[in-house]
Amino acid sequence: MVRIREWEPATASDAEIDAWLRVYNAAIAADVPGEPPWRRDRLRDYLSAAMPIERRAAWIAEDHGELIGYVGENLLGYDMAGTAVIELFTEPAHRRRGVGGELLVAAARHAAAHDRDLISTEIVEGTPTVDFYAAHGFRPTVVEESSLLSLSTVDWEQVAAKSNRIGAGYHIEHFPDGPPETLLASYADAKLILRHTPVADVEWHAGFEASRIRDSLRTLRARGLRPYVTVAIHTASGEVAGLTELVVPAHRPDRADQYDTIVVPEHRGYGLGLTMKARLLLALRTAEPQVETVQTWQPVGDEQMLRVNAELGFRPHRRWYDYEAPVSAVIESRRTA
Ligand SMILES: CC(C)(COP(=O)(O)OP(=O)(O)OC[C@H]1O[C@@H](n2cnc3c(N)ncnc32)[C@H](O)[C@@H]1OP(=O)(O)O)[C@@H](O)C(=O)NCCC(=O)NCCS
Repeated sequence: MVRIREWEPATASDAEIDAWLRVYNAAIAADVPGEPPWRRDRLRDYLSAAMPIERRAAWIAEDHGELIGYVGENLLGYDMAGTAVIELFTEPAHRRRGVGGELLVAAARHAAAHDRDLISTEIVEGTPTVDFYAAHGFRPTVVEESSLLSLSTVDWEQVAAKSNRIGAGYHIEHFPDGPPETLLASYADAKLILRHTPVADVEWHAGFEASRIRDSLRTLRARGLRPYVTVAIHTASGEVAGLTELVVPAHRPDRADQYDTIVVPEHRGYGLGLTMKARLLLALRTAEPQVETVQTWQPVGDEQMLRVNAELGFRPHRRWYDYEAPVSAVIESRRTA
């Protein structure tokens, strides 16, 4: 008999965390073969820590006491306060039994109870998630492409040369563990650019200020995600002209994820994007020698970013979609199922 119950990773038994990891890795192996499996390191922290303004909840599905599915929900804050983001998976041997749908509706009801209008998730092209979410009223909003760099194929001399090609009037600084307090306001201003960047006709729903960056760095660390940041400084003003961010998760230390890369519009055309990314790769190689691949994302059609990535050896990998549905439509889809 399948039972759905609310689950708190912060207080769950070690055996439950182990079971979560087993099922998650089985899903990876079935849906995105070749992806590095996750490890136990800091997994509990990863699943439970949240931004102060956000709230996490989770449910598991159990069949005769055995964990066979999970949904985690994050009730977002700031200007995304109407949205609940979910991550959902079921054990491959237990699919098409309605378990995914039950977990989804548990998350949707909770979202409705907390006055959320939208439920959103990130999915990978070519996985069963596409049909599952379409069947529950979800539609794609944002499309992105990921690219992968295999560090064993990198020509490090070339990367070192690229890391020095920078226009006069700029210099590069690298910050393991995130930017210092003195740069936070200027860093936050640079991130505001993303808010106005159209992606697949949809504005990025991001809003940034120094306190949010501070909270976000604290949360990354609390979740076992080690941040590295390289910035380009406009020397005369001392302002952040560009930034690139990368994170190494404790639970998957062989694969680094690149987060935002931004060059402020008036500082474009001076080679800052390539230089910053090259400098970050060099630093990563020394600080995290176990990293085998780096994953980066760019909006479909962002030719400039694609060129920078290709020049460093990144190769196109997968397509990712943000899927979104009104919470009411998700609840309704189960009534009519
Ligand atoms: C998407 C997922 C959660 C669905 O779980 P599930 O328990 O099989 O879902 P349900 O049985 O509730 O399916 C409900 C409906 O969704 C649709 N659906 C689900 N899987 C489908 C598939 N593979 N093909 C077509 N339709 C599908 C169907 O309409 C289905 O109803 P039906 O079985 O009566 O036809 C599951 O396939 C999964 O975990 N996928 C991988 C998640 C992931 O992110 N992986 C990558 C990293 S781990």
